[in-house]
Amino acid sequence: MRIALFGPPGAGKGTQAKRLAQAHGLTHLSTGDLFRTAIRERTPLGTRVSELLEAGELVSDDVTNGIVADRLETLAHGDFVLDGYPRTVPQAEWILAHLADAGAPLDAVVSLRVPDEAVVQRLSRRRTDPETGAIYHLDFNPPPADLDADALVHRPDDEPDAIRHRLEVYHQETAPVEAFLREHVRYFEVDGTGTLDEVQGRISGVLAKDRGLAGI
Ligand code: AP5
Ligand code: MG
Repeated sequence: MRIALFGPPGAGKGTQAKRLAQAHGLTHLSTGDLFRTAIRERTPLGTRVSELLEAGELVSDDVTNGIVADRLETLAHGDFVLDGYPRTVPQAEWILAHLADAGAPLDAVVSLRVPDEAVVQRLSRRRTDPETGAIYHLDFNPPPADLDADALVHRPDDEPDAIRHRLEVYHQETAPVEAFLREHVRYFEVDGTGTLDEVQGRISGVLAKDRGLAGI
């Protein structure tokens, strides 16, 4: 199964992609995580994109498609869940064509709908574990009590100004991709509010109902 999770910042794409990956043996491919790893490891890519991520601006399509192409090559086009990609029309055009050419087209896009107020509430209290990649929320998905709180980070783009800007970028540059995706790939909308388990159940429900998506 090859799917993509779509939605605004803080919609729960990373949280649900990890759950889907674990439940169904998919590789989780998050462009945001790939960029953050490059920044942490101070690679040339990391140096190039660091200020963009901190400000909540999008990285260029060429650079982003390039890292996705590299990563897909190492996967030899196995099953995966894309998280935060594609998020511009050129990215969507490129990935659909690239996968179709490889004989392994994208099966579906699942869009998580979450209102802006909930996004702000979620991102302002998010904490992540850079070692394990785990995503927590201080109220809604708290880290285990025995975890060293100093090991957790508050992403620089989760500061109030950057959250606001990321939402603007989403509405201006990413939300319009929806129309393109609806036209070219099976596209499902899911209510992203409620508990983590409820959202996971809705995603699995729409994928299971969609005939042709065996194995879920
Ligand atoms: P990226 O890392 O993809 O960030 P994003 O899309 O802004 O999304 P987030 O990771 O902030 O949120 P999420 O939807 O994954 O939610 P999460 O599960 O963490 O991108 C970062 C940057 O990289 C971009 O700004 C850009 O610079 C660059 N970039 C990345 N991809 C790019 C691309 N394709 N093109 C160009 N540039 C790109 O959950 C959020 C919080 O909510 C957590 O605390 C979580 O615990 C909590 N939560 C989750 N589910 C629930 C729930 N059901 N109820 C309550 N809380 C919940
Ligand atoms: Mg994420």
